[in-house]
Amino acid sequence: MHYSGNMKKVLLTGGLGYIGSHVAVELIKQGHDIVIIDDLSNSEYTVLGRLSELTGTEIYFELGDVRDIDFLKGVFQRYEIENVIHLAAKKAVGESVNKPLHYYDINVSGLINLLKVLEDHQAKKFVFSSSCTVYGQPEFLPVTESTPFGDTPSPYGKTKQMCEQILGSVAKVARYEVVSLRYFNPVGAHHSSKIGELPKGVPNNLVPFITQTGAGLRDQLKVFGGDYDTPDGTAIRDYIHVVDLASAHVKALKVDLGPYTALNLGTGRGYSVLEVIKAFEEVADMKLNYSIVDRRVGDLPEIYGDPSMAYKKLRWKAELGLTDMMRDAWKWQQGLAK
Ligand code: UFG
Repeated sequence: MHYSGNMKKVLLTGGLGYIGSHVAVELIKQGHDIVIIDDLSNSEYTVLGRLSELTGTEIYFELGDVRDIDFLKGVFQRYEIENVIHLAAKKAVGESVNKPLHYYDINVSGLINLLKVLEDHQAKKFVFSSSCTVYGQPEFLPVTESTPFGDTPSPYGKTKQMCEQILGSVAKVARYEVVSLRYFNPVGAHHSSKIGELPKGVPNNLVPFITQTGAGLRDQLKVFGGDYDTPDGTAIRDYIHVVDLASAHVKALKVDLGPYTALNLGTGRGYSVLEVIKAFEEVADMKLNYSIVDRRVGDLPEIYGDPSMAYKKLRWKAELGLTDMMRDAWKWQQGLAK
């Protein structure tokens, strides 16, 4: 264990969540001292212990909600924060349609609260967790950072657009640099199998649904739509290993980028749902029970990004492929059963 109470810290909001926990590991590996904020609304306290085990480090943790500005002020008084990585947010597209205010409140008001508190503190960098959802259904593929924001019907998607717009305005007058990282589809888990995705209830996302079906926890995967205008008729996404995604956050802290930068984080390669299933079947050495059903409302036929700007600016690119993603997702799922 090392205790480094005097070191300047990275504040990681949502640090016990799926992406946040992987970012925490990569930060510590690169020598950063971190403080995690999480309200445990979509994460487990036990992840904190697993992070300490994995990194051999004491991690500062503050239980609280980003909507509580007094809580945030207290955190900034207790620690010397040099950089902020803001991941704490709601992320379920379907739920956001039914609970729009909840989404605007946490995602948008939460961000505004953090930015207000930052006005009274010195920070160097603010890294924001954005999404390729900001592009809506783009006219041309792959999407680049200059692809305009498109119509994104869900309140979730709108919150990501609003947050980026707010950050763009704030960056013009702030002392710190702002980076919005636009994630494509993060999947997989840490190769140690100590951390990974812990979906509450029935998973909405493809990969946890596949691994739960493989593990016998679900009867059958429903493939939403087999009649898209794609080579095999199923929808195409740019899946990225969560560890690759996490390492980009660390690089974003290192490099001077200017007031505001948005970067795509994907592999640049699209895979269809059937290709993902096939990759799973190969690593798990089993046939998956699935059937093709109607399209899911609101789904795009195809999206993948051009990640070359992230390489140019950060010297970052994804290293892991679809087989690695499925192998680590499956290993994690199998570990959960033990
Ligand atoms: N899919 C299935 N069956 C399932 C679940 C998903 O066929 O049980 C399909 C979807 O129709 C889609 C693909 O698998 O074609 C990927 O679906 P996910 O739900 O895993 O991911 P999405 O691309 O729908 O959503 C992700 C993030 C969102 C983000 C969005 C931006 O989860 O937070 O990308 O495009 F907004």
